[in-house]
Amino acid sequence: MSTPETMKALVQLHDGYSGRQEGPVIDDLAPLLEYREVPVPQPGPGQALIKVDLAAVNPSDLHFIKGEYGQPRVKGAPAGFEGVGTVVAGDTPFVGQRVSFYATHSGTWADYALTEARGLIPCRPDLRAEDAAGLIVNPLTASAMFDIVRDSGADSFILTAAGSQLGKLLIALGRDYGIAPIAVVRRAQQGEMLRDLGAEEVLVTSDPEMLAKAAPIMKARKPRILLDAVGDQHTADLFFAMPNRARWVNYGKLSTEPPRLTQLGQLIFQHKKIEGFWLTEWMKTASPEKLGAVITEVQERFVSGKCRTDVTAVVSLADAMSELPAATKKLDGKVFLKP
Ligand SMILES: NC(=O)c1ccc[n+]([C@@H]2O[C@H](COP(=O)([O-])OP(=O)(O)OC[C@H]3O[C@@H](n4cnc5c(N)ncnc54)[C@H](OP(=O)(O)O)[C@@H]3O)[C@@H](O)[C@H]2O)c1
Repeated sequence: MSTPETMKALVQLHDGYSGRQEGPVIDDLAPLLEYREVPVPQPGPGQALIKVDLAAVNPSDLHFIKGEYGQPRVKGAPAGFEGVGTVVAGDTPFVGQRVSFYATHSGTWADYALTEARGLIPCRPDLRAEDAAGLIVNPLTASAMFDIVRDSGADSFILTAAGSQLGKLLIALGRDYGIAPIAVVRRAQQGEMLRDLGAEEVLVTSDPEMLAKAAPIMKARKPRILLDAVGDQHTADLFFAMPNRARWVNYGKLSTEPPRLTQLGQLIFQHKKIEGFWLTEWMKTASPEKLGAVITEVQERFVSGKCRTDVTAVVSLADAMSELPAATKKLDGKVFLKP
């Protein structure tokens, strides 16, 4: 397979961090990215070049291009962390194979992407392209955080932004492993869908009675882990309503409204903890055996239908500048970019 010298890509216009925390909402891409012709990146030692088939659009991508993620932007480099494609060159035995991957050197919102060869995940042939394109960021995070839930020994756990793709993966894990998910959402309309999926309880933050409704649930189910992607006052209030030894594990900042921590004494006298989770750090510490087992299980869960990626839009790379912002505002599913 011959590789061209140039490719189309959505290239970042800024370096570093913005210093702002505006959340993963995009109204206009023009101040952040440009669709342009760039050289195809060349793989060095230990790297692989992948012809992108489908690229995910995750909240982390939107935080990143806005300069508010955990790593700095690189002006002139293509955006996009995650995708699926075919390895076309590099320091790897997987040349010619379909792989899921996380782009560490040149992003997935492009015809070609460059990454560490050791991070390539060969895909089962029966894995749908949408599931393969989103195989790493959300499924591995769900699996790693569900281990925290299992280790807690409790019969239930709480999750916020429960209608997100990651939330739905966590609910399905709770259902399948018999640990009751207590789903927190901001729109009541999501309740029925999440109950059908396996949520045992649904709390709606826009309901003024939410905390009163949470109280008997806390008493009966005694959740110990709060998996939180929102980080707002509702999360803080729920955490302070949880039983002794509760852990608030924050892994996302979907809300731009900072919470007031009104009962910090609970950290001292009720042994409660507030902590963060970042997949990037978890990957550094997980053993190859653990990673292999998780990846095998995740592919099996998608193929067998135990979980699925809900898709709201597939936008062509060429139309992304005009169409992606509106596509990201569609509810209850993921957006993908197709080169
Ligand atoms: N730390 C890590 O390693 C890691 C890894 C993967 C993902 N994440 C985080 O996990 C979260 C979910 O990712 P995803 O890809 O599953 O998301 P997604 O499918 O795009 O869904 C986003 C969800 O967030 C909800 N939401 C947005 N703003 C909100 C707010 N201000 N208050 C309450 N809910 C809000 C939306 O609710 P509506 O439907 O009501 O709009 C929607 O359900 C993101 O924060 C992402 O950054 C973190």
